[in-house]
Amino acid sequence: MNEPQPSVAMIGLGSMGSALAAAVMAAEFKVTVWNRSPDKSEALAANGAAVAQSVGEAVSQADVVAICVRGYETANTLVRQADVAALLNGKTVVQLGNGVPAEVTDAEQWFTQQGASYLDASIMTFPDAVGTDDCQVLVSGDPAAYQRYQSLFAALGGDIRFLGADAAASAVINSSGLAFVYLAAHAFVSAAAMCDAVDAPIDLLGDVVAKFTAQMPAMFGEYVSMIESGSYDSTSLRLASGAENLRAIAEFGAEAGVNSDLITTALATFDQAADAGHGTNLAAIFETLRAKAV
Ligand SMILES: NC(=O)c1ccc[n+]([C@@H]2O[C@H](COP(=O)([O-])OP(=O)(O)OC[C@H]3O[C@@H](n4cnc5c(N)ncnc54)[C@H](OP(=O)(O)O)[C@@H]3O)[C@@H](O)[C@H]2O)c1
Repeated sequence: MNEPQPSVAMIGLGSMGSALAAAVMAAEFKVTVWNRSPDKSEALAANGAAVAQSVGEAVSQADVVAICVRGYETANTLVRQADVAALLNGKTVVQLGNGVPAEVTDAEQWFTQQGASYLDASIMTFPDAVGTDDCQVLVSGDPAAYQRYQSLFAALGGDIRFLGADAAASAVINSSGLAFVYLAAHAFVSAAAMCDAVDAPIDLLGDVVAKFTAQMPAMFGEYVSMIESGSYDSTSLRLASGAENLRAIAEFGAEAGVNSDLITTALATFDQAADAGHGTNLAAIFETLRAKAV
C-alpha cells in the first residue's frame, strides 16, 4: 500500500511562498497556510488550502513545516516562541528563504534541539518558474528527511539537487550565485545610466547585451576549468585588453558624468592581477580576489 502524502504547513505567503504553496497543492499534498497578512491566503484557500490563524496552528497540522519569509531573523521571531517550539518534535522543517551560511547553521542547531529534522533549500529562480522544469532548487541537511520527502521537492521544479548533510551547503552556493545576480543587475543598470547620460537608446543596449550574454555560459565553463587548474593562459578574453578597454570606458563614463565606481573597482582588480602576472586570461583575477590571495 502507498504511504499517504505528507501534510505541509506553508509559513509565509509572499511572492515566493505563495508560488511554493500553489506548486505543492498542485501535486496534491494537503497544505495548511499561514501568513502575517491574512489576505494573501485567500486565493490558496479558494483552491483548497486550510488557513491557520497562528504559526502554532499551522505547525500542529503538518508533517513538514516549510518556511519562506523575508530573512532568517523574521523566521526566528515567528518560530522561537514556546508554544511553537513545543510542537516541533518529530516534524521536518524546510527553510526556503534566502539566508547566509551562519544563519542556516544556527537554524539547524535550534530546530534539531527541538527534536525536528532540518533541511535548508535555496530556490534559485523567480516565483513564476516554481513548479516548472526551469525551477532549480538546492537542498541540504538531514539526508533521511530529504529521502523521506523527495516527492515534495519534486513538486517544486525540474532541477532539484541535494548537496548533502551540511545544511549550510545550499546557502553557500545560493549566496555566491546571488552575488553574481546582483552584481550583473548592477552592471546592466550602470551600462543603462551610461547610455542615458549621452541620450543613447537604452532599449538597443538591452537587445545587444541580451544577445552578447547568451554566449556567456560557454565562457563560465572555460573559467571553471581555468580556476580549477590554476592556469590562465587561454586567450579567449585577455586581461590586458580588458584593462585597456575598461580604462577607456571609465574615462568615457567620467566625462559623461556617470557614477563609475563599479568600473574603477573592477579596473583596480584587473591591474593588480596583471601586475602579479597570474596569467593572460581575464579569469586570472581569481588569484587576486580569492580569500587565499596574499
Ligand atoms: N521573489 C523571488 O524572486 C525569490 C527568489 C528566491 C528566493 N526568494 C526568497 O524567498 C523569501 C521570501 O521572498 P518573497 O519574494 O516571497 O518576499 P515578499 O513577497 O516580500 O514576501 C515576504 C514574506 O515575508 C513575510 N514577512 C516579512 N516580514 C515579516 C514579519 N516581521 N513577520 C511576519 N512575516 C513577515 C511577509 O508577510 P506579509 O505578507 O504579511 O508582509 C511575506 O510573507 C526571501 O528570503 C527571498 O529572498 C525570493
